[in-house]
Amino acid sequence: MSREFEPYAALSVVYDSVSNVAAKKAAVLQLMQAVHKESNKDLRILDLASGTGNVALLLAAEGAQVIGVDRSQTMLRAAQEKLAPWSDRVELLNQDMRNLRLSEACDGAICLSFSLCYLTEDSEFVTVIDRLANVLPRGSPFLFDMLNARAPDSDWIAEESARWANRGIDWKFHWLDREKLKYCIQYRLPGDNKAIMKEQAKEVHVGRAYTSRELHDLFDIQGSFVLEDLPSLRTPSLDYYIARRN
Ligand SMILES: C[S@@+](CC[C@H](N)C(=O)[O-])C[C@H]1O[C@@H](n2cnc3c(N)ncnc32)[C@H](O)[C@@H]1O
Repeated sequence: MSREFEPYAALSVVYDSVSNVAAKKAAVLQLMQAVHKESNKDLRILDLASGTGNVALLLAAEGAQVIGVDRSQTMLRAAQEKLAPWSDRVELLNQDMRNLRLSEACDGAICLSFSLCYLTEDSEFVTVIDRLANVLPRGSPFLFDMLNARAPDSDWIAEESARWANRGIDWKFHWLDREKLKYCIQYRLPGDNKAIMKEQAKEVHVGRAYTSRELHDLFDIQGSFVLEDLPSLRTPSLDYYIARRN
């Protein structure tokens, strides 16, 4: 018997043991370099889809004031616990990025671990671009990564599956719509996981990979950002981009 959970309700417990924090650091450093600091005040950085707070922690360690936004309460709880010693530097908000609303503008924003893939429709992606445009002043950078559409045909599938299997989790990828690059990742967690009591848990995550061309088109339509590829950070499975507020 397995019980189905919403994305990250069960995974939040094991997420950090599978997460590659070192890989996120290069992206954080690149963002911090890209932010123009015109005054001595601390930089205010938005961590979109902040999850368990790994990126927020790296940003805070670089001296930023961080606003972490995530829609998963379980991921936010894990972040709150981890970031308790940084509470003067990090604020965590339970929001859906499609309805992002902040009380103050930010100097830059970041979204890692292909979290933007959860936006499976162009219209949702455009909404998030609009929301970001509202919180980032002119010249501010938004750095993000994106699942490379060729990754599912490469060794990535076997590597990813092995990485999760090491934690006792069965990880399976399949295309829902190959042409539109819509996919589904299914996670099965063992029954002794403390978050799910004695039952085996299943989570189904639906996402979409966006090609570089699609991303350029989406950012161009809005006209509020200029998008650049960031080849220096690229990995076999992830492409990186920086969008600067126009
Ligand atoms: C793979 S985790 C990445 C966490 C973090 N960025 C990191 O690199 O460690 C994806 C996160 O995106 C969040 N997420 C997905 N869709 C979202 C949305 N529409 N609004 C806010 N958060 C979202 C999930 O709740 C989850 O915490």
